[in-house]
Amino acid sequence: MTGNSKTLFGVSLVGSGSATPAQRITNDQLAARVDTNDEWVKTRTGIKERRIIGEGDSLSKLCVEAAKAAMEMAGWGIDTVDMIVVATSTPDDLFGIAPKIQSQLGARNAVAFDLTAACSGFLFALVTGAQYLQNGTFRRAIVIGADQLSSWMDWDDRSSCVLFGDGAGAVAIELTSNDQNALIGFKMKSDGSRGECLSVPQKKEFVNLVGSFKNQIGRFSNIQMNGQEVYKFAVREVPLLLKDVLGKHGITAESLDWLLLHQANQRILNAVADRFSIPESKVLSNLKNYGNTSAGTIPIMLDEAVRDGRIQPGDLIASSGFGAGLSWGVALFRWHGKT
Ligand code: UT7
Repeated sequence: MTGNSKTLFGVSLVGSGSATPAQRITNDQLAARVDTNDEWVKTRTGIKERRIIGEGDSLSKLCVEAAKAAMEMAGWGIDTVDMIVVATSTPDDLFGIAPKIQSQLGARNAVAFDLTAACSGFLFALVTGAQYLQNGTFRRAIVIGADQLSSWMDWDDRSSCVLFGDGAGAVAIELTSNDQNALIGFKMKSDGSRGECLSVPQKKEFVNLVGSFKNQIGRFSNIQMNGQEVYKFAVREVPLLLKDVLGKHGITAESLDWLLLHQANQRILNAVADRFSIPESKVLSNLKNYGNTSAGTIPIMLDEAVRDGRIQPGDLIASSGFGAGLSWGVALFRWHGKT
């Protein structure tokens, strides 16, 4: 699915926020549980530590904190928010957490719903939220990306447990005129035929209901991942899609200010950047502190770079989310935040 700038209105990214759990677990600490070591995890992934939701935290709490920070940066009154989209695959409640976040924020005028697209979730949610503004339906939206994959991990599987962490990030977007449109282009893709590479499938457990009728118990497995296949998928598909979107909009890789990829593995970030000769200094990475927070990675990284002044108003950013589904997407946007 492709998008372009031929819309009724424009969308502007005016605020960002993020929140991560207090509990921090280093590679060395994990090595006390599984047969791994700091050197292996650092060199193969770039990760040194991750944050894990503990007893005092919850995913919705982190989402509320991130959304509040984004709204503060945007300078919005809470009653002016029209929509909240929460990208997550790990809600506190299977029916969705967006309404709970809406209520905790006090955003009584906002419609709120969840969207699931795993590690591509934030990017898909940003594009989804932007559509409502660009067609004039809503004026202001908060887009949140958040996950708590630590709850779905086999903590004795060293090939996956070292990769993931928990966290939430949010972006405040608002309607603007078409000539100010900051979402320059996007493309999103899905390929369910390769979905088994990365999944959290429902368990096939049935119990007797009445007579010979049975019903399935609502339980899920831990994360099942073929790491090498996911790696190959990412380094093949992301550059293809990025090239496509850049070409469609006549934008050269040299003119990008930042490459903001889903933070899965430093080697994936480097491989994608290398294909476009994008220097390391333009590749945003905070993997070492958080690992892969799934839908959280892109907005958490964006917020960090906005707040420390690396990303400046007007900067051109190429972002890509990729992961389970399989799903992947690219968005080109300018940061118009009031920093
Ligand atoms: O949002 C998307 C989520 N998924 C991903 O991003 C995953 C993408 N894939 C990857 O990042 C990489 O494939 C991994 C980091 C998961 C694995 O790296 P790799 O370079 O592909 O390693 P490998 O699977 O080929 O394993 C190499 C060796 C194996 O040992 P042998 O068979 O060579 O003796 C593994 O058993 O490394 C071993 N190994 C470990 N050793 C120490 C695997 N995990 C660990 C570990 N510590 N944590």
